[in-house]
Amino acid sequence: MTTNAQTPNSVQGRVVIVTGAARGLGRDYARMFAIDGAKVGLADVNSEAVTTAAREIAADVPGSDVVGLTVDVTDADSIAAMVAGVVERWGTVDVLINNAGIWGDLEPAPLSATKPSYFDLVLAVNLRGPLLCTQAVLEPMRKQGWGRIINISSMGAYMPSGVYGVSKLGLNQMTYALATELGTNGITVNAVAPGPIDNEATRSQLPEAAFQKMISGTAMKRMGNSQDLYGMIRYLATTEADWVTGQTFLVNGGYNSRM
Ligand SMILES: NC(=O)c1ccc[n+]([C@@H]2O[C@H](COP(=O)([O-])OP(=O)(O)OC[C@H]3O[C@@H](n4cnc5c(N)ncnc54)[C@H](O)[C@@H]3O)[C@@H](O)[C@H]2O)c1
Repeated sequence: MTTNAQTPNSVQGRVVIVTGAARGLGRDYARMFAIDGAKVGLADVNSEAVTTAAREIAADVPGSDVVGLTVDVTDADSIAAMVAGVVERWGTVDVLINNAGIWGDLEPAPLSATKPSYFDLVLAVNLRGPLLCTQAVLEPMRKQGWGRIINISSMGAYMPSGVYGVSKLGLNQMTYALATELGTNGITVNAVAPGPIDNEATRSQLPEAAFQKMISGTAMKRMGNSQDLYGMIRYLATTEADWVTGQTFLVNGGYNSRM
């Protein structure tokens, strides 16, 4: 018996917001949700790129219902406007994918040398951002007694990786705390912690030697991709996962962070 009139393993017709969807993993998740029949709001601080991403998905996926939305996840007013836009268009929010994140590219300094301004910026985007976005979708989720918050964490939470790792381990803790608070509203909160992913961001930020080291650190001897991650994210968004909450799922090809 499911708690919602929905095929247990389906996201058909669900209203999904994916933050950080202008490029990379977020854009791929948005496309896969659209292919699976969800209504998808692609949200990103990069207005032009997210509009293009939404337009491309709409053109490529027959019958899809997607929209590009501008949001800065560090700004509560901007988040409120984004959620209001989605509710106005589709009446509710069923699933929030907190994917927007920054890592490494701006100031790849060790934690002991990290400037306070950079520390604050990474935490504002990677940790406070998911909290503010979660707070903003609670009203429609509570109203319907069902909702899904899926936080995109990282293997960086389990290895020394500067302020990025600090933010992602904090996100795992926040996942558990919010799940505990929201469970009786029918809202689940889980995190997915990807291992090394072969995409634009990784290619541009990792030297070849580091790339190869990551491959050898996996049991599968390959980098992952967005499809490897989507299966877990999609599962968590369905009613099949109604009793799964507060967890962080490592999807990492068996990556051993001690290597
Ligand atoms: N790529 C990997 O190997 C990997 C591994 C583990 C975890 N992750 C996590 O997955 C997520 C996506 O990673 P990616 O590789 O696709 O990154 P990416 O850099 O390609 O994309 C991140 C997106 O977030 C957006 N963004 C940044 N700041 C924002 C803000 N303030 N408000 C709204 N949007 C903002 C960017 O504009 C960009 O479109 C991140 O949370 C990252 O930490 C990635």
